[in-house]
Amino acid sequence: MLNHPLDPSALADFDLPADTSAEALRLRAELEAGLRARDACISPKFLYDALGSKLFEAICEVPEYYPTRTEAAIFERHGGEIARAVGTGTTLIDLGAGNCAKAARLFPLLHPAQYVPVDISADFLQDAVERLQQRFRHIEMNALGMDFSGGDWQLPDVVRSERRLFFYPGSSIGNFTPEDALAFLRRVRAQCGADGGILIGIDLAKEHAVLDAAYDDALGVTAAFNLNVLRHANRLLGADFDIRAWRHRGFYNERMRRVEMHLEARSSQQVSWQGGSRRFEAGECIHTENSYKYRPSDAVGLLEQAGFAAAGVWQDARGWFAVIHARAIPPGAMH
Ligand code: AVJ
Repeated sequence: MLNHPLDPSALADFDLPADTSAEALRLRAELEAGLRARDACISPKFLYDALGSKLFEAICEVPEYYPTRTEAAIFERHGGEIARAVGTGTTLIDLGAGNCAKAARLFPLLHPAQYVPVDISADFLQDAVERLQQRFRHIEMNALGMDFSGGDWQLPDVVRSERRLFFYPGSSIGNFTPEDALAFLRRVRAQCGADGGILIGIDLAKEHAVLDAAYDDALGVTAAFNLNVLRHANRLLGADFDIRAWRHRGFYNERMRRVEMHLEARSSQQVSWQGGSRRFEAGECIHTENSYKYRPSDAVGLLEQAGFAAAGVWQDARGWFAVIHARAIPPGAMH
């Protein structure tokens, strides 16, 4: 046992009472089902416990991971134009808000009437919003700890219904298969109202080597981010994954036009959790993430199929990333 008894991480792992809320039970059942599947998988949403959220912040700082930086540069360069397109006084709904930094940088341009950050990592989000509310006292803020990756989420009544602008930056849409992305965008469209819209960041298909490096960086930050999902599983399920017995894999699958992350067993091993166990052979993988890459025309087509009309598309000079503003189309106007 490497953990010293006074090591705070040991306390965090074992001394918290188990969360028995309906949401937590659902998440645990989903996690367990993925571990039992013949091709084992863990949904990427489990990457974002408190440490995972911090590791993702660190990924955004490594030189190889270009998406965050490239998207920020697009907002930096075209922010004024984007703000004129989407307008001020909106109800800004930030899906997967994390530390809220991306939206906060737009506040001086967008002046939203209400800010609604939504994230599955509720505690992490709460801290970020409390700090933000101090800086922007005149913006009404309502943080929502919610999983919106499934098919049946609904915004609560505290969210104003007028001029909803869904903000979905960072190419998080890439975690969905294109079919699920369409279903997700239709769900957003259904909650938009007639005067709503979406401002979305989408990572574009590009050279193989750039993508491979971005998801398998030299420092190993992405590796730590991926491996941390096993710590999260240990905590959620009372599992006994030995982190050192697993290896990070991250690479571009050109045929599927997606980056894949996997965890590969370094040796044959048995993993147990409360209520189950499974044997993994050496080399066997747990699929932890897909990150689909789009061509701009495909991204626009997807938005149109979901009931939006693309009103503005902004890209960096290398054509690596796109920010798209799309307006809700009234149902009658759709073909
Ligand atoms: C937050 C889903 C956009 O897919 O690039 C970063 C997550 N995974 N490095 C992405 C991620 C590995 C990221 N998204």
